[in-house]
Amino acid sequence: MISDKINSPLIGSPMIPGDKSISHRSIIIPSISNGVSEIRNILKSEDVMHTLKAFKNMGVKIIEENEKIQIFGNGLNSLKKPNEDIYLGNSGTSARLLAGLLSSQNFNTRITGDESLSKRPMNRIAEPLSKLKAEILTSDGKLPIIINGKKLESNNIEIKIPSAQIKSAILLACLNINGSSNIIENRITRDHTETMLESFGADILIKKEGEKKIINIKGKKELKAKNINIPCDLSSSAFFIVAALINKDSKILLKNININPTRNGILLALKKMKANINLINKRIDNNEHICDIEVSSSNLEGCVLDSAIADLMIDEYPILSIAASFANSQSIFKGLKELRVKESDRLNLILTNLLNCGVDCKVIEDDLIINPSASYKVKNNNIRTDYDHRIAMAFCVMGTKIGPLKINEFESISTSFPTFTDEFKKIGGILF
Ligand code: S3P
Repeated sequence: MISDKINSPLIGSPMIPGDKSISHRSIIIPSISNGVSEIRNILKSEDVMHTLKAFKNMGVKIIEENEKIQIFGNGLNSLKKPNEDIYLGNSGTSARLLAGLLSSQNFNTRITGDESLSKRPMNRIAEPLSKLKAEILTSDGKLPIIINGKKLESNNIEIKIPSAQIKSAILLACLNINGSSNIIENRITRDHTETMLESFGADILIKKEGEKKIINIKGKKELKAKNINIPCDLSSSAFFIVAALINKDSKILLKNININPTRNGILLALKKMKANINLINKRIDNNEHICDIEVSSSNLEGCVLDSAIADLMIDEYPILSIAASFANSQSIFKGLKELRVKESDRLNLILTNLLNCGVDCKVIEDDLIINPSASYKVKNNNIRTDYDHRIAMAFCVMGTKIGPLKINEFESISTSFPTFTDEFKKIGGILF
């Protein structure tokens, strides 16, 4: 009987894989440093493996072992022209960061991606990079892009769209410029690139002025290899956190999770919703904030979140919307425009799929409003994902409360969390 299976307790300690954003950077930055870097707990997902393959194809020696990978970097200008196009699958982070890095190399490259990545905007990097005199030719603002690598010129660049990918693309380009550039961020986004560059010895100075962040970077300073222990991914943890919160008698422990303050919006939001979440064993490793997270079932309250928090939790709205569907009052999440240009139009897919699950919700301009009920009558159990891993995993969690949902293109979860199914089942999660 389905009713016996839904709302069952989730108990245990699932293994969360390494952080995706830090994993990409842990390949890119060591590859252009001097010396051997050993990287542990890297996320072995499709997206990250595309970045890894790209650097191997550009002549970087990378040895993959079970426990660690070793990257033999040879400096800022050591990359070689790849023999083929750089294909990056579904990975927006790889495409944007590599475009920035390769714009200052002395060879040309062409970057391609899968159907979904090929629909995502690339002018958002081509335009600010052109202020450094970079030449990136897009196909109507999208992939494929051709990067005509050349000598760039320093400049001061104000970032118009709050995006860590844009900021990181510019930072990586500036590393190889003779001169000093300022990158001005009016809304703070995840800071893994500048944090890691600092620890690899880049000539970088970070200043905060109220809400603003100004990063000064002087290029042509060679980086020094360093070992990295990648903490586990808070974005991947969020599916388990919400599943435990909304299923009765649940108690889980997530270990070694990254809670970087530029990424922790989901924890702040869930706390506001009165979630039982405890952060224990807090520590700092390699400039990253880490802790273990205890979660138990909770009577969630709805909440209003304004757009400022969106930058700190941009990937977590699909799963937060599931939490809000089981709260005891209305939630309003404001300013979600950027969700429209993620791996899918996430705002539209959250809305469509929640409506199909019987949840009373609407989108007004870029705000999402959810009016939860005590029970739901599913109208259509066919979940559309458009190959978006986070939509797929969020609606797996929905299924634990409302019964079988058919998650289309479920295999997309391997872009960020290949072991999701096993770990979910291990703690008693039902996947239909
Ligand atoms: C990422 C930045 C975010 C995020 C993406 C990973 C990164 O994208 O959505 O999953 O690693 O820099 P934007 O920079 O486009 O907001």
